[in-house]
Amino acid sequence: MEDIRLTGVRKTYGKEVAVENMDLLVEPGDFLTILGPSGCGKTTTLRLIAGLEEPDRGEIHLADRLVFSREQGVIVPPENRNLGLIFQSYALWPHMTVRRNITLGLEHARLPREKIDRRLQQALEKVQLEELRDRYPSELSGGQQQRVAVARLIAMAPTILLMDEPLSNLDAMLRVDMRGELRRLHKDLEATTVYVTHDQVEALTLSDTVVVMDKAVVQQQASPYDIYHRPASLFVAEFVGNPRINRLDGMVRGGNGETTVDFGDVSVPFDANLNVRNGSVVATLRPEAIQLSKTEKEGWLKVRIDAVQPTGSETVIKTSSDRLKLTVLQPGFFQMATDEPLWLRFEAESLNFFDSETGKNLAA
Ligand SMILES: Nc1ncnc2c1ncn2[C@@H]1O[C@H](COP(=O)(O)OP(=O)(O)OP(=O)(O)O)[C@@H](O)[C@H]1O
Ligand SMILES: [Mg+2]
Repeated sequence: MEDIRLTGVRKTYGKEVAVENMDLLVEPGDFLTILGPSGCGKTTTLRLIAGLEEPDRGEIHLADRLVFSREQGVIVPPENRNLGLIFQSYALWPHMTVRRNITLGLEHARLPREKIDRRLQQALEKVQLEELRDRYPSELSGGQQQRVAVARLIAMAPTILLMDEPLSNLDAMLRVDMRGELRRLHKDLEATTVYVTHDQVEALTLSDTVVVMDKAVVQQQASPYDIYHRPASLFVAEFVGNPRINRLDGMVRGGNGETTVDFGDVSVPFDANLNVRNGSVVATLRPEAIQLSKTEKEGWLKVRIDAVQPTGSETVIKTSSDRLKLTVLQPGFFQMATDEPLWLRFEAESLNFFDSETGKNLAA
């Protein structure tokens, strides 16, 4: 299994910086997802690894092999990087049958005929397309075309797998199925995988490691758990999670040997060792971390209900107090009239605190 290493990589298009000073390590056999909003540099990063674009500066290693360095004059072309690529459009050849689409790469690699036939058969079985091997892409559904693209990769058996939003053209049901398929493909091939998406659910469900990018810069690289529970910045906290994370503006107050942070209608204990500028902090709180009661409880925060939005398995409840707006996520189908009051509480441990100017996690 190979690792992928980018050091100090920068890529510009004219005045536009698409990737800024990127250091990225993808561990051997890892499934790493690059997540971020449109235009943040995800596809560019993938194309740099593939060799479809050249960095302005920096180095790229695949395993122990230097594949790009302008300083050393090294530029290994894409076809010599042993990569498998799936892009948003599966790029099947329209004038070739399923079978030819799958075997073309193997023929170019000059594999012996019987080896090609064996790989073709195995790949078709894996994606359950044996029956359709003589059809043309135009005679297949979107999901079937996608499976041909997957079969082509299985047959090529690359050591590195690069995928750019491969599921974006599929309907919701098929997406969930195909996620499972892609994860299995990664495991079967034992290929180091870089997957690009702007869908945070996809990133959290599929990955061993998530890299969040914004404006050409890596914001955080961590496990899905840490991305969700210990976001490095306010941007990461707000980009990941649905419904959106609650944001509370607070003031830190000392006295009587106890430091607290005051959010207006509630205050919680605060770690006096954290370095806070001018006393102001921003806290975040996940909607599912809030407890709720329909009856009054001592010390709980009384709120009004602004909206109740059941989705079936869970319910989003939008609430407000005099100074705070809090979104609460409850399991199950929650029914309640908006004119009834509610009482809320949360553990101080559920909060993350951020610098109000830089947006950096204070605990980081
Ligand atoms: N060939 C190009 N010429 C000029 N600018 C480009 C080119 N390719 C990308 N860019 C710019 O570089 C930036 C990063 O683009 P990139 O395609 O990597 O974004 P992305 O994160 O993949 O976005 P999306 O989620 O919309 O696919 C964008 O601002 C884009 O306009
Ligand atoms: Mg893109």
